[in-house]
Amino acid sequence: MSTYGYFDDKNREYVITRPDTPLPWLNMLGQDEFFGLCTQTAGGYSFWKDARLRRLTRYRYNNNPMDNDGRFLYVKQGKSVWNPGWKPTRTPLDAFECRHGLGYTRITGSKAGVEVEQLMFIPPQENLEIWRVSVRNRSKTTQKLSLFSFVEFCFYEALNDMTNYQRTYSIGEVEIEDSAIYHKTEYRERRNHYTLFGCTRKINGYDTSRDAFVGVHNGLHDPKAVMAGKCTNSHAYGWNPVGAHQIDLTLKPGQEETFAFVLAYVEQGDLPKFDAPFVMNKTKGREILARYSDLAAIDRAFVAVKTRWEELLAIYQVPQVPDANLRRMVNTWNQVQCMATFNLSRASSGYETGIGRGMGYRDSNQDILGFVHLLPERARQRILDIASTQLSDGTCFHQYQPLTKKGNADIGGGFNDDPLWLILSTCAYIRETGDLTILDAPCGYADQPGSQQTLLHHIDTSIAYTLNNRGPHGLPLIGHADWNDCLNLNCFSKEPNESFQCTGDIGGSKAESVMIAGLFLYAARDLAALYRFMGKSGEAARIDGYYADMLKTVEEQAWDGAWYTRAFDAESRPVGSKTCEEGKIYIESQAWCVLGGAGANNGRAKKALQAVDKYLYDRNYGCALQYPPYSTYHLELGEVSSYPPGYKENAGVFSHNNTWIHIGWTMAGEGEKALEYYLSICPSAKKDYDVYRSEPYVYAQMTASQFSPTPGEGKNSWLTGTGAWSFVAASQHILGVRPDFNGLIIDPCIPKKWKGFTVQRKFRGVTYTIAVKNPKGKSKGVKSLLVDGKKIAGNVIPLPVPGTTAVKIEVTLGA
Ligand code: BGC
Ligand code: NOJ
Repeated sequence: MSTYGYFDDKNREYVITRPDTPLPWLNMLGQDEFFGLCTQTAGGYSFWKDARLRRLTRYRYNNNPMDNDGRFLYVKQGKSVWNPGWKPTRTPLDAFECRHGLGYTRITGSKAGVEVEQLMFIPPQENLEIWRVSVRNRSKTTQKLSLFSFVEFCFYEALNDMTNYQRTYSIGEVEIEDSAIYHKTEYRERRNHYTLFGCTRKINGYDTSRDAFVGVHNGLHDPKAVMAGKCTNSHAYGWNPVGAHQIDLTLKPGQEETFAFVLAYVEQGDLPKFDAPFVMNKTKGREILARYSDLAAIDRAFVAVKTRWEELLAIYQVPQVPDANLRRMVNTWNQVQCMATFNLSRASSGYETGIGRGMGYRDSNQDILGFVHLLPERARQRILDIASTQLSDGTCFHQYQPLTKKGNADIGGGFNDDPLWLILSTCAYIRETGDLTILDAPCGYADQPGSQQTLLHHIDTSIAYTLNNRGPHGLPLIGHADWNDCLNLNCFSKEPNESFQCTGDIGGSKAESVMIAGLFLYAARDLAALYRFMGKSGEAARIDGYYADMLKTVEEQAWDGAWYTRAFDAESRPVGSKTCEEGKIYIESQAWCVLGGAGANNGRAKKALQAVDKYLYDRNYGCALQYPPYSTYHLELGEVSSYPPGYKENAGVFSHNNTWIHIGWTMAGEGEKALEYYLSICPSAKKDYDVYRSEPYVYAQMTASQFSPTPGEGKNSWLTGTGAWSFVAASQHILGVRPDFNGLIIDPCIPKKWKGFTVQRKFRGVTYTIAVKNPKGKSKGVKSLLVDGKKIAGNVIPLPVPGTTAVKIEVTLGA
């Protein structure tokens, strides 16, 4: 129990016990195409598929107070006006609780004998969200009150919505029918969709004009209509359409009323658009409201949300393991975060506005690694979508919009790590499913409309791209940047109005990346194994050759004496070397060289990890990205040196790359280190949330490091590659249950003092119940493996005979 809340592990909820958390603590609703962000005070917004192109409700980022705008309920009770979620009025409550659960948030607030519970969720496969609201009289006297709902509609294209007021102030249109508010801006012209905000109960009034409901000189903390206790039944013409319902209630002692609001995105499809001039055809909207007017239907939909999550999570569970933080992260929250990163990439969170960035090429490929076991079919489609944004020369659009699936021309390409990540995601998919047909699936190139090249063609193109674009040391050219978007070795920007990400001439540049070399090693090993599995030994041997060649280059060119050099700049000077004054050692090249198998036979891998331990690691915060931080701006390095020391890529703890080191420690057989490092960035293991500030249940992209003035402060939570990689590190490498092309590998690396643990894994239709025992106090090495009581050699459980549904595995460590 911390100052702000606690984990209810049984119910898979994080319970927030006071509304004034150090930062907004967010939950993510939705799994399919309709999504919502929801904070502990009901702040947030909703969108369909694409937070930029189909935003349904408004949210004001970086507002002060922070997190203001959302799914608000106001209670007017006598003279008092309050929100069950505390905000925006911030009227002190008698009781407050927010339960962030799997795809739902339940906020309960009480004041003067009245309790309001607001349960928000998005039913599976629906393009709508439900707020199930219960109002209870907990007092001994009859209570009269009015309850108001509130959302502010967004004009779908979020950037235009918040910048182009000369237009947007004149386009707003709504219709009202019974309890339903239809937001239909631009529906008359090119849009064939609208937003519906309805109530399952009879209402006593409504407002659709913000000026009428809130007032031009009032705020969401004192909306005019609520203060007056009465909606004005306003009709918005232009300006800012909102949706507000008024419900008057008289509740006897102990009495409760339950009803719901429904916020839906409705596509009109082939139906006629209008019933009459200016009167939209509302058939679909009416159908939706009819479907959910029944409370039992709503409750069924909520059960469906929970059941679906339980089914997904059952694919990988750790029923017993000595470490509580690892258990709750692996069993629940880390997988929840993997769902969010899969769906939203780096597009929309409390820190990503949904406008700047769509789906990232490298990001989404990595996100698949932690998601593919949950819904492999969706991962398959995503891999093909991503591949379709690659160009025929091997370069890739760095980002694409989820709605259009088209590459984003503003940012373009030239991030030379991008092509390789596709190999990792594809191999992960095939390992999970055994489905080789994905390799033959057509997913042409972005610069060749209509082309039907296969995924395997893309993979070959990716390998060839890296091989053919190398610099003076034989290492891969970096382009605009590699995984570290801020290592801009070709940028040379003196102009503050330029973006570090796309500025600079990369044609003919010499700057090289050791990280990409390491990633190439990893990808090549993956691909060679895949070819072997396919029976293509010639192809496997070809890739093995590339591997050997790159490995030789890395060992000859990139070993700095005690760690791997990070890069060579445009003048071929080393970056991340003992010869540098600052930025002597970087984490990514240690991680990827080790993961790629460099240093395995000559002791360098161990040394590289030890150097990380010595220079970068701090037990309380994790590993800083590099050391020492840059104290001044370096023209030849770019954005990495733009951040003040200890933040972001300039030696902040960038959680994502820490997870690679966790895997590195398991490869080195160091179970204590692996777990200790794992816990150093684990959000649920933080000691003081007034310092850490971010959510305890999901990873933050970065924590201010020991080299900053505010060490331990977490930032940019939810959308980070840490989600996927941390799950991979914990589930596949620490607990060591790892899918392979032809079986399930069991290869744990745990602290010696662990006596054992159990894992439940569904893999290719079979449920494996795995019990690992560690009688000799070892970290790594499988001594014996019993499959349904029969001893087998090695540590790969072969695929069982077809028809098998459950297999019992007993593992004893101690080889
Ligand atoms: C951030 C990076 C990010 C990049 C691209 C930079 O400002 O520091 O973490 O990858 O922007 O959006
Ligand atoms: C965040 C970006 O989304 C990711 O692509 C990048 O690798 C990291 N920042 C590191 O710069």
